Amino acid sequence: MPLPKQGKDPEALFATLEAFREQDMPWRDGRTWAYVYDPGEEAEGVIKQAFSMYLTENGLDPTVFPSAMHMENEVIGIAADLLHGDENVVGSFTSGGTESIICAVKAARDRARQEKPHVTRPEILLPETAHASFQKAAHYLGLEVVVVPVDPETFLADPELLRAAITPNTVMMVGSAISYAHGVVDPIPELGALAEETGVWLHVDGCMGGFMLHFLQRQGVPIPDYDFRVPGVSSISMDYHKYAFAAKGASVILYRSRDLRRHQMYACSNWTGYTVINPTVQSTKSAGPVASSWAILHHFGDDGYMAIARKVWAMTEKLVTGIDAIPDLRVLGKPQMNMCSFASDTVSVFHVADEMKERGWFVQPQLAYGSSPENLHLSINPASERWADDLIADLRVAVDAARELPSGELTAKIQEAFSGLSADEVTPDVFQGMLGMAGVDGTALPGRMAEINEVLNALPVPLREKLLVEYLNELYQPAR
Ligand SMILES: Cc1ncc(COP(=O)(O)O)c(C=O)c1O
Repeated sequence: MPLPKQGKDPEALFATLEAFREQDMPWRDGRTWAYVYDPGEEAEGVIKQAFSMYLTENGLDPTVFPSAMHMENEVIGIAADLLHGDENVVGSFTSGGTESIICAVKAARDRARQEKPHVTRPEILLPETAHASFQKAAHYLGLEVVVVPVDPETFLADPELLRAAITPNTVMMVGSAISYAHGVVDPIPELGALAEETGVWLHVDGCMGGFMLHFLQRQGVPIPDYDFRVPGVSSISMDYHKYAFAAKGASVILYRSRDLRRHQMYACSNWTGYTVINPTVQSTKSAGPVASSWAILHHFGDDGYMAIARKVWAMTEKLVTGIDAIPDLRVLGKPQMNMCSFASDTVSVFHVADEMKERGWFVQPQLAYGSSPENLHLSINPASERWADDLIADLRVAVDAARELPSGELTAKIQEAFSGLSADEVTPDVFQGMLGMAGVDGTALPGRMAEINEVLNALPVPLREKLLVEYLNELYQPAR
């Protein structure tokens, strides 16, 4: 596609962008129950204005833009306070949970390189509920991943299984507060004791929960300590762009001490240009996300977030009770924050997701893994409060509709045609054959997803991953 010869005036451009947006889920109506963290219109206005004020300021160099560093220091200070850090706790602002996690994994790896130089194949211990971004970080940074089962009823990390998996090569273990899939808080005090005993770096993934748990715990929701109050915790990631409601691109990574954070930093003076000194992965970066974080934290303040926490917890209790009352559905584990997921032993949850979509809702399918069956996930937003009863009512209708739909036919066909195939054997031709069988055009997004999710759900993990990579590689095609 050539660059347009002549420029257009802003009005025409914005109208086109508005038209592009019509392709998306209309999330502002409050019926999209994943990916968005919606505090309502006024707060959205606050983050937009703050973001655009700092959109073009470059957070790369504090000597030129000291205000970006000033805001960063304030939002890190607030995070350290919320997570009960003492005066030694330090941190960095990053673009999101994944970047915060990459930073923490790098720091643990590099500290091990310094303190345990005999470790040549560093290992990271992950309960099977730990977010995928730890595996991505390990993949990028050359660590071996050791996945440890969780309790099949509660979906909580099991400290004894983690203890048994520690080897002389273990450089990091992870606890989640909360885990994305089930919305539960791992037993961080027990994991902290294990970390102290063994000297293994314990990272608490508070990307999703670190912020909101603070307010829920103060309101008496039973939540174990999950932050720097636990002595063995070395680092915590916490996203402002989730339930603190900042603009996307906002997370923090905190360390118990400067000594630990040092291993996250990177400097390069080994070239002809300006000396690069980066605390995090990004280099040039908009100061918009840090400004939006600063603004939203000051907009709501402690009182505002307490009120939001009260509201979303009441919604969560209502939804969990309502979903459990639907005979075909059961909530997984005991959610401790405003996220939950539910499974079914009688109907295909993937059909339920499609049926919900037909009725204007987005609920997020999650594939089976380890002790967790395939399920549907809900992220519960304050702005969706008015929809709680309707969501439950439509879930009942969707379950009834899903019961009438055939399941497993495509899965059986694909398993028969490609049985025994390993991920390495999925060539582009084989992949095209599978797409053809599924009636999917690789360059378009399918409408109903149930059959495809059923196929993925039935396949071994390496094959699932390979197919998804092939699919993504097809899907993103430059406009010609
Ligand atoms: C528990 C947890 N950790 C890490 C992440 C990764 O965060 P991001 O998508 O901002 O990179 C997520 C995302 O949902 C999460 O839920």
